[in-house]
Amino acid sequence: MAEQLRPLIAGNWKMNGLKPSLAELDAMIAGAGNVTADLLVCPPAILIAAAAARASGTRVAIGGQDCHADASGAHTGDVSAEMLTDAGASAVILGHSERRTDHGETDAIVRAKAQAAWRAGLTAVVCIGETQAERDSGKAKDVVGRQLAGSVPDGAAATNLVIAYEPVWAIGTGRTPTNPEIEEIHGFIRSKLDQNLKEHGARVRILYGGSVKPSNAAEILKLRAVNGALVGGASLKASDFLAIAAACS
Ligand code: 13P
Repeated sequence: MAEQLRPLIAGNWKMNGLKPSLAELDAMIAGAGNVTADLLVCPPAILIAAAAARASGTRVAIGGQDCHADASGAHTGDVSAEMLTDAGASAVILGHSERRTDHGETDAIVRAKAQAAWRAGLTAVVCIGETQAERDSGKAKDVVGRQLAGSVPDGAAATNLVIAYEPVWAIGTGRTPTNPEIEEIHGFIRSKLDQNLKEHGARVRILYGGSVKPSNAAEILKLRAVNGALVGGASLKASDFLAIAAACS
């Protein structure tokens, strides 16, 4: 039977939040004492330094939502992995479907960004997931398998990699896959990790993401194949985020 990994509850604030939103982070930090899961909050890049200063020495880690593959250079508007580390981040979300769609990020680009994240000492939270059309045509596993193979560099291990399975059709829609559907894809991802990463594969956490909220968190997080959640909208409010985290125990 698969080893039970310590769950990770990660919040992706996306392009939401101004300086006053850091009060929500403060409330998350204050409420994190009884939570057994690891907690990660990924605010917009411009808030990372302030967020990391507040979260320093607490149970809440801070992450970015993207990074450039290069360490520095002529890339107007971009943020490097080294800059995220410098600002106090310890992880970075990469290959989110919104970036794959809005910015044309391919698996090869995501892979280069993951290498950059490791170069800078960050954990890469690599997102994969099929669209509704791909699921409807029976291609969910093909798509997820291809994204996994193409987006994760050699040298992955539990200390530097987290996989987030986020079906695109479940993001921000209020719809979620059924438990057997989640288990099927998570099991498939686990088998690929076992194949590709040998003994490291079993310890890489696989998060579920897409419309996770306090009302469905316990149902999803009780699945053995699910090692945590990547939460969008419900991570903007401390009470919701902490309720989801509490559902792990
Ligand atoms: P929602 O939780 O808002 O559906 O977003 C999920 C997501 O995209 C997290 O990265």
